[in-house]
Amino acid sequence: MAMSRDLSEWLPRIVAAIEEWEDSYGAFTPFPRSGAGGHEALIDEYLGRLTGDMYPFFHPHYAGQMLKPPHQIAVLGYLAAMLINPNNHALDGGPATGRMEKEVVADLAQMVGFGSDLGHLTSSGTIANLEALWVGRRERPGMAIAVSADAHYTHTRTAEVLGIDAVVIPTDRHGRMSVAVLEEVLRTGRIGTVVATLGTTGLGAVDPLDQIIPIARAHGARVHVDAAYGGFFRILADDLGDAGPAFMAIADADSIVIDPHKHGLQPYGCGAVLFADPAVGRHYSHDSPYTYFTSDELHLGEISLECSRAGASAAAFWLTTRAFPLTREGLGTFLSPCLSAARTFHGLLETDPNLRSAQPPDLDIVCYLTRRDSMSAIDQDTARIFDELTHAPARDQVHLATYGMQADSLAERGITATEDQNSARILRSVFMKPEHDSAIPEIHSRISQAAARSMTL
Ligand SMILES: Cc1ncc(COP(=O)(O)O)c(C=O)c1O
Repeated sequence: MAMSRDLSEWLPRIVAAIEEWEDSYGAFTPFPRSGAGGHEALIDEYLGRLTGDMYPFFHPHYAGQMLKPPHQIAVLGYLAAMLINPNNHALDGGPATGRMEKEVVADLAQMVGFGSDLGHLTSSGTIANLEALWVGRRERPGMAIAVSADAHYTHTRTAEVLGIDAVVIPTDRHGRMSVAVLEEVLRTGRIGTVVATLGTTGLGAVDPLDQIIPIARAHGARVHVDAAYGGFFRILADDLGDAGPAFMAIADADSIVIDPHKHGLQPYGCGAVLFADPAVGRHYSHDSPYTYFTSDELHLGEISLECSRAGASAAAFWLTTRAFPLTREGLGTFLSPCLSAARTFHGLLETDPNLRSAQPPDLDIVCYLTRRDSMSAIDQDTARIFDELTHAPARDQVHLATYGMQADSLAERGITATEDQNSARILRSVFMKPEHDSAIPEIHSRISQAAARSMTL
């Protein structure tokens, strides 16, 4: 595989460069470490466990959840920095990687159209959202947040952690936040921050941010954008049809979360939070008697809730975005095939005798179900298709995810099924690898055949 070949070519150069740097500090007596030698059996056991009980996230036949390996260049960037192990809490912990982080955050700010580059990387999207909602609470004390029913589950839990109320706004038949209901709720004057999701986890739906911002502003509410999944599609806003204006509107929001460890080719954990108004930096004000002493420049720990953060994450993202800038010709070349894969798959489902799509994809996630007339039959088909394709011999496997849908949500989408149970699992595929595009006809045919088999039972 290209991944291993690249690594075996580059690893010796990385190790040599780091050793040369280490040697420049003069010799010392190292504590005797056995290194990997002497642990052969253990390492074999480890590699056996790692590959013996894992799903093939790298393969186009893995079309399940939001998972894929990082790009090779990110791995190389990460490994090199990890050998040094900088901590981006302070410039004292890693001046080079701290400065790289500031550069990539400025790139993200430019990508979304923020005039300020106040922000930083985080260990995850959850922590990044927590931080944005915490700033929101500081700006609008005692007020609630409004999130859509399809927003990531962590928002309501985070609201609980922050001690604020969360008002859940229903979604429409596209899985997008209902602007009419949001407006009614805003009229109550309770809402301090509206959370709009650009790329919901379940359906990949894009909330109409361009409509949400003016009504939120009219009621004095802040707007936070959870684009943990979809954020990088800002690069391709022109290709997103009626979801495009939402991405263009990000520039007018107050804060945004984007996860480089989702569509930014990075290993876990690399999230990011950015703020439009640099003045919110004052909320972070704290004193750290242990750090911040080698430079008067801003230390990222001064504007972050987390203390230690891997400098290697920033280094990996920096190297990746120098190879593939946040442009259509750069990272965009990895994203367009994903959009194309989802659209082709949705198109094939339109004429499929066994399967139908729940809705046209806004991004690269497609949810679909068998053409059956009861909720229980749909649910059972989903479970059987999932099991059959997951447990086939390795070469025949196709990995899918499932998603729970209520009968009335299906009905809103024109899919009527006898309501012998309230909700049913339907199938869900995240086509987040460029390799999916050319594999779609084959993936579709395997799933459709499994559906046909299930429907005879
Ligand atoms: C829209 C959205 N927000 C937030 C999150 C949470 O991100 P993380 O898993 O990096 O904590 C996810 C994860 O899937 C997501 O899809």
